[in-house]
Amino acid sequence: MEKIIKLSLSCLMAGASALFPSVVCAADGVTVNHLGVNNTLVRVDSGKRFLLMPVQESNDDATVNVVVDGKLEKTVYVRLAKSKVDYYVPLSLEDYSGHDVVLNVVTSQSRSTVREAKEDACWSRFVVSDTFDTSNREKYRPAFHHTPLYGWMNDPNGMVYKDGVWHLYYQYNPYGSKWQNMTWGHSSSTDLINWTHHPLAIEANGLGAVFSGSSVLDPDNTAGFGNDAIVSLYTSAAASQIQSLAHSKDNGATFEIYPGNPVITLESEARDPNMFWNAATGEWNLLLAHALDHEMLIFRSPDLKNWTLSSAFGKGLGAQDGVWECPDLFELSVDGTEEKKWMLICNINPGGPFGGSATQYFIGDFDGNTFTPDKDDEGNVPTKWMDFGKDHYATVSWSDAPDNRRTVIGWMSNWQYAAEVPTMQFRSANTLPREMGLFKATDGQIYVSTVPSPEVDMLRDRLVSRHSKLSAGKNPRKISLPADNDGICEILLDIDSRKGAPVSVMLSNDEGDYVDMVYNPSESTFTFDRRKSGVTDFSQDFPAVTVAPTFSDEDSTLKLRIFVDRSSIEVFEADGKFAMTNLVFPTAPYNRISFSADGGKADIRNLRIFSIKDIND
Ligand code: FRU
Repeated sequence: MEKIIKLSLSCLMAGASALFPSVVCAADGVTVNHLGVNNTLVRVDSGKRFLLMPVQESNDDATVNVVVDGKLEKTVYVRLAKSKVDYYVPLSLEDYSGHDVVLNVVTSQSRSTVREAKEDACWSRFVVSDTFDTSNREKYRPAFHHTPLYGWMNDPNGMVYKDGVWHLYYQYNPYGSKWQNMTWGHSSSTDLINWTHHPLAIEANGLGAVFSGSSVLDPDNTAGFGNDAIVSLYTSAAASQIQSLAHSKDNGATFEIYPGNPVITLESEARDPNMFWNAATGEWNLLLAHALDHEMLIFRSPDLKNWTLSSAFGKGLGAQDGVWECPDLFELSVDGTEEKKWMLICNINPGGPFGGSATQYFIGDFDGNTFTPDKDDEGNVPTKWMDFGKDHYATVSWSDAPDNRRTVIGWMSNWQYAAEVPTMQFRSANTLPREMGLFKATDGQIYVSTVPSPEVDMLRDRLVSRHSKLSAGKNPRKISLPADNDGICEILLDIDSRKGAPVSVMLSNDEGDYVDMVYNPSESTFTFDRRKSGVTDFSQDFPAVTVAPTFSDEDSTLKLRIFVDRSSIEVFEADGKFAMTNLVFPTAPYNRISFSADGGKADIRNLRIFSIKDIND
C-alpha cells in the first residue's frame, strides 16, 4: 500500500516551525504540534477525502480524539507507528470538508522527553489522499470467503434478508487489524457468495461501542418506525453492557439510533440480543446472553421497545467453561418426519471441545416464555457442537430468510489466536454460508445437520479431476490439485473403507506442509490434524487435531465435501451430519491430495475436484 502513496514533504507552514519549535511539517495538508511527552496535535488542512493514519501492529493504541471546529467528534484507538509503518488505515474526512479538523492524540509509551516522542515514525507519515487502496495481495487473503476489505472483523451479527438482498453486518474495527473500536461493518449480497462492501452501518456513540446484536423486519410496524423498517438491537458496551435499538429506513444502509436507549439494562454483563417474531404467540422474543452467569435470558415484547423478562435458560447445562455469547433460537423440522423442534444456539468462549471458542446448541421445545431442553436416555441434557473444527464461532442465522430457510454464517477464527494469525492489513473471514436442518441419529437424539448453502455450488469453476474409483492401500495414491489458482478448490469424494481400516486423505505441498484427515470407521470418527499444516508457531494453541463423530456404521461409506481456500479448510459430511472448520496457513499452496489406508484397503469413489475462482480479487 505504501507504494501508492506519494509523499510530498513540502510544508505550507514552513515559517511556523521557527516561531513555534513544537510545530513540525508532515505531508502537505498535515501539521504536527508536539505538546508533551504523550500529547500531540495533528492538524489536517486539506480538501482531500481521507487522512491515512500509519499503523504499527506491535505498538500500543494511541487515543485519537477527532476534534472538528473545536468539538469532539469521536474518539478512536489506533496503533500509531513508532518505529515502522506496517499499513495505513483511513479516517474519512468527507463529512468535515470546509471545517477545522484536529486530532488530539494521546500516546501511551513511557518516555522522558518530547524529543523522544517526536521520533515516532507516525508523525512524518500521516498522508491526506483522495484514494485508499483496498486491493490486498496478502498470501492468506481468502479467495471465496467474505472478509473485510481491511481492518479487523469478528462476529457476524444483525443479519437480515430484505427484498432479495442478504445483509451481513459484522463486528468491525476500521482503524486496525486487531479488536478495537467496535462498529457494525456492512456487506450485502444477492447470492450469499459475491459481496458488496458498504460504509459503516452503526458507529459508537455516547452509550458505548457497538457490540453484537440482531435485526428484524417489522412489516406490521409494531415499533412505529414504519412497516418497511429494518429494526436492530445491539449491545452498547462501555463501563456496562446495555441494549440499544436502532432502525434503518434505507434498506440497511444507515441507521437512526433510538433516542430512548437503552431499552434493556441489567446489573450484570449481558449482551448480543437476538430477537425474532414468534408467530405462535404473536409477540417478539429475544435471547440475551447473560455472559458470566452462563445462561440465556428470554424476553418478550409487543413492540421491540418494551421487553419483559420471561425466564432464564441454561444454568449448569451444556458446556459451562467460558462466557456464553451470541445466542439464537429458531424452529426446524426433523428430517423425514412431521416433528418440529427448537434449536437454541449458544456460542461459548473458551470451553470449546478443542480449546477456545466454539458453538454449542440445545434441542428442545419453546412456548414463547421458556425453553425446555430434550434429555438423553439417562435424563441428562447432552452437550452438542455445531462444528467440530477450531475456527467456527459466533454463528447465528439470518432473519427473514426466504423459502423457510435457516441460513447461518460464522466467524472463521478462535479468540485464542485470532489477533495473531499471520495476516496484516485485514484479519478474519466468515465461514461459507450454511443451511441448518435436524436429523435423528441412531442414539435416538436429534442433532443439527449443516450443509453449505446451495448458492455455494456456483463457486465451481472447472472440473480438474474426476475418478469414479481409486483403490488406496499402504502406498498413497496421489492426485494433483489445480495449479493455476493456488490450489483453491472443492473436493467431493466417497470413502469406502472396505475392511474397516482407517483411511487417510492428505493435502500436502512440496515444502513438507500437510493436513492429515482420517476417517476411522471402527470408531465412527473423522479427524483433522493441522499440526504440520504450515505456519503454526504464532500461537501455542494453533497446532491441533480436531475430531468429529461421523454417525456412521463400521461398513458405511463416508461422503465428503471439502472446501480449500488460501487459509481455511471446511469439511462437510454430504448430508450435513458433521461440519468441521479449520484455519491453515500453508507456506505454499497445497498442490496434492493423497489417499492411503495403512493396514487395509479402501476405495475412493466419485472423486471430483473443482477449481474455484478467486471472487475476492
Ligand atoms: C463474541 C463477542 C460478543 C461481543 C462481541 C464484541 O465474539 O465477545 O459477545 O458482542 O464479541 O466484539
